[in-house]
Amino acid sequence: MVAEAAVTAREVSKSFFMGRQAVPALSKVSLEVPAGTMTALIGPSGSGKSTLLHLIAGLESVESGELEVLRRSVHTCGQAELAALRLREIGFVYQDFSLIADLTLAENVRLPLEGAGVARKQAHEAACDAMARVGLSGLEDRFPAEVSGGQQQRASIARAIVGERKLVLADEPTGSLDSKTGAEIMDILGGLRDDGVTVVLSTHNPTNLSYADQIAELSDGALVSVTERTGSGERG
Ligand SMILES: Nc1ncnc2c1ncn2[C@@H]1O[C@H](COP(=O)(O)OP(=O)(O)OP(=O)(O)O)[C@@H](O)[C@H]1O
Ligand SMILES: [Mg+2]
Repeated sequence: MVAEAAVTAREVSKSFFMGRQAVPALSKVSLEVPAGTMTALIGPSGSGKSTLLHLIAGLESVESGELEVLRRSVHTCGQAELAALRLREIGFVYQDFSLIADLTLAENVRLPLEGAGVARKQAHEAACDAMARVGLSGLEDRFPAEVSGGQQQRASIARAIVGERKLVLADEPTGSLDSKTGAEIMDILGGLRDDGVTVVLSTHNPTNLSYADQIAELSDGALVSVTERTGSGERG
């Protein structure tokens, strides 16, 4: 059986404009992410990892090339459909957790569902389920400042999967954590992948690569290598 692709990029390019000067961030990147796998984006600072994640998330627009995310072409689908895709089907995990300080963890986790129009009670139940999946049961009513960094990152992963979303994008999810806590976060992301969630993450930490099924290396905005890892189930 050929795995369906969760993300397909064909010659995707993106530049940013500083005044009239175009700064290339991604140049003709072609990459396929099979559904239910984990892909790690690596490469030096400024190589385009975050830019690629932002394009997949729909947070930035594609300049040229084709990008399909969860079977939708981000070119042909309209703004409303893209917004819905982002809100209901894609989760984003940031290095700095990006939780709202004056909301409880459960309120943070249910925000994307409330934004998508789900009733509060139902959103809260889904938030509790997502928090249970990342080992945060019992901490629903804590505020972010009242839990550890690792627990804050778990909450941000819960927010990324709440309501059974199938694509999680994580930009250096362990970058702000010590190595032990970072390994716990990678265990959680690896477990989600084992449950069928597609994970694309960027990382500077080589030990995180043992969790990945595929490693895509960027350099100066170009994809310079894609390495398939077999037996990524054997982690240690
Ligand atoms: N909003 C922006 N405006 C202008 N240039 C940008 C913007 N975002 C990114 N860039 C440029 O695009 C290139 C790629 O940046 P990107 O943030 O994707 O790199 P990265 O691989 O994530 O780096 P890091 O490992 O430091 O996070 C860099 O040259 C960067 O300066
Ligand atoms: Mg980055």
